[in-house]
Amino acid sequence: MKVKPNFELDNVDFNENPTFDPIAQIEMDLLLDAVARRYGYDFSQYSNKMLCRRLSMFRNHYKAKNLSELIPRLLYDQEVMGQLLRIISVTVTEFFRDPKFFLTFKQQVVPLLHTYAFISLWCAGCASGEEAYSWAILLDEAGLLDRSRIYATDINSNVLQEGRTGIYSEEIYLKACNNYQLMGGTRRFDDYCRRSYGAIKMADRLQKCITFARHNLVHDGVFGEMVVVSCRNVMIYFGSSLKQRSVDLFHKSLCSQGFLCLGDSETIETTNFSSVFQPKDKCHRIYQKMPELKE
Ligand SMILES: C[S@@+](CC[C@H](N)C(=O)[O-])C[C@H]1O[C@@H](n2cnc3c(N)ncnc32)[C@H](O)[C@@H]1O
Repeated sequence: MKVKPNFELDNVDFNENPTFDPIAQIEMDLLLDAVARRYGYDFSQYSNKMLCRRLSMFRNHYKAKNLSELIPRLLYDQEVMGQLLRIISVTVTEFFRDPKFFLTFKQQVVPLLHTYAFISLWCAGCASGEEAYSWAILLDEAGLLDRSRIYATDINSNVLQEGRTGIYSEEIYLKACNNYQLMGGTRRFDDYCRRSYGAIKMADRLQKCITFARHNLVHDGVFGEMVVVSCRNVMIYFGSSLKQRSVDLFHKSLCSQGFLCLGDSETIETTNFSSVFQPKDKCHRIYQKMPELKE
């Protein structure tokens, strides 16, 4: 039987990529399939544009002629897989990234959080933890940290481990101080960390409230009864069906009238969920889950 060639043409925008190479696409599909079967990381639903760019960086890193050359290396050498994960899971982050987002959350949502007996917050795609600590500081300043728990998740165990240690460089600290001022922090960033030997260590009372855990938005399940879900600068790398799955997961994880924070780079309007969330702040993409109607 002759097998129909499958070049995943549906995923390809020919206007954006006029030099589309069907053989390169086959190689990419084979590599992603090998990675999924060998290591359980399924990147096939990430955006095609992002995958092309990132896999070409991966190929250049090993000075390989093509991606096929790297498939056996990926299968037999976990270090090569580690490198691929570092390249595909873009882990750029900072404390109070986009300070205006946190300022808006403080002004518009925090007053409502005071009505909750307990606040559970899921920070999905937390990278090395700076965002999770930012949430902890914000809740602390609102007097809510004692009755809060933050679940900080990511697919990349290396960055999660950095988050668990709570140790960051001086460079990260300087940027953090600046962003903290911009988000309207009422104390000094130094009140939340200890500085020594050119690094900082986050305060124990913040660390105690955060649980770091591996969770993959491609196939893992819901977190129950979250009051806030934050997934910022993560779904920009996803294709539309994975975005759809992720927002469904967030919707199921949130309690009635809970808050979904997508940040400036993502919107709910491109998913099927715009009717079950109402915008709380359109500019910073903060949404509130509408109460479910009982039958
Ligand atoms: C650019 S960082 C964003 C970090 C932080 N949320 C922020 O806004 O600064 C994206 C993070 O998403 C994580 N990520 C990518 N794919 C994921 C998936 N399928 N499930 C969970 N996390 C994922 C990456 O490992 C990376 O740490």
